[in-house]
Amino acid sequence: MLSSNMKKALNDQINAELYSAYLYLSMAAYFEDTNLPGMAGWMKAQAQEEVGHAMKFYGYVFDRDSKVELKAIDGPKTKWASPLAAFEDAYKHEQKVTGLIHKLVDLANKEKDHATRSFLNWFVDEQVEEEASTKMIADRLKVIGDSKPGLFMLDRELAGRGSGGGE
Ligand code: FEO
Repeated sequence: MLSSNMKKALNDQINAELYSAYLYLSMAAYFEDTNLPGMAGWMKAQAQEEVGHAMKFYGYVFDRDSKVELKAIDGPKTKWASPLAAFEDAYKHEQKVTGLIHKLVDLANKEKDHATRSFLNWFVDEQVEEEASTKMIADRLKVIGDSKPGLFMLDRELAGRGSGGGE
């Protein structure tokens, strides 16, 4: 069974992952409105991936014979000044999530909860990828600047992620 501190922290992380899904779905809606279907698809896949992260925590809490307690999910931002602003927000958000995962690792170490420490390894590695992919796209958008052809080319390229999500 999880300690009550750890149970609360893991339940909070379920909420944070579902908020991430909500944020990326909101970015997807922004890109649909902006006529950038490739970026919208990329964000929809990202949102699905975040639901997958939440479900990993959900399953783990049950596996440790503890209770899942869902809380209200905050409403995400709905407008961005540009595609670059959206991807910069996504990168900043992933940095924040990395901080949350690292805090969970610190708690698991403090409590000598080796099973949770091991479970979290996957997320530590995943966050490296999450930060890298959002930063790479933000960096590309900076290079593209005001070039419409450049923007549409990147949009086509990102459409290649497909609807299944997961990178
Ligand atoms: Fe679930 Fe994008 O971190």
